[in-house]
Amino acid sequence: MRNFITIEGCDGVGKTHQTRRLKEYCEQMGLNVVFTREPGGSDIAEQIRKIILDANNSAMDDMCEAFLYASARIQHLKDIIKPALSQGKTVFCDRFVHSSYVYQGLGRNLGLEKIVALNEIAVGEYMPEFTIFLDLSPEQAFLRKGGADKTDRMEAVEFAFHQKVYQGYKDLIAAEPDKFEVIDAGGTADETQQLIRKALVKRGILK
Ligand code: TYD
Repeated sequence: MRNFITIEGCDGVGKTHQTRRLKEYCEQMGLNVVFTREPGGSDIAEQIRKIILDANNSAMDDMCEAFLYASARIQHLKDIIKPALSQGKTVFCDRFVHSSYVYQGLGRNLGLEKIVALNEIAVGEYMPEFTIFLDLSPEQAFLRKGGADKTDRMEAVEFAFHQKVYQGYKDLIAAEPDKFEVIDAGGTADETQQLIRKALVKRGILK
């Protein structure tokens, strides 16, 4: 879908920080943009997010988790993404279907095909025009931020999970290179931000 851009990467790569800075920059430039995030992004979807990430819900079935992410996504599309795109805005979304492919499909071993099929039902034609991938291995990411956040149910899982997630992203990118802008996130925050903006200029989103 034109003007629909998603941002992906492993936990701890600095995605939230970079997305906030990009938002500030776009707003300063007076661009017609909406920034949103998953899981969540709208009232009902944020309520679903709380259930998913609650560390007390350790008994949650993996497939239940996958459906909750997809459910939150359906509501988020309806409330925020579709209206913004139909008003001619450019939408940046911090995580989207590719997170489900790699975290649930591969990390949780539910199977990529199943999770792709589930998300096809959830999003239909609303697939991103392209995805900004902040490239940093989980080893480097966790080292930089001083370990995983144990109060976050998704970050608290074992390290092998995050390695599977990272490899999963790499495989998706190799399969569809035109759909991704791979950004080296190993430098300083300023350097990463510049690389992101450069990629967006190349794609015709920024001037
Ligand atoms: P979040 O607090 O947004 O983390 P970050 O700022 O690092 O993006 O947490 C979202 C967590 O949910 C993160 O660990 C990735 C996971 N996730 C999935 O497993 N599947 C999904 O479909 C989405 C959107 C997120």
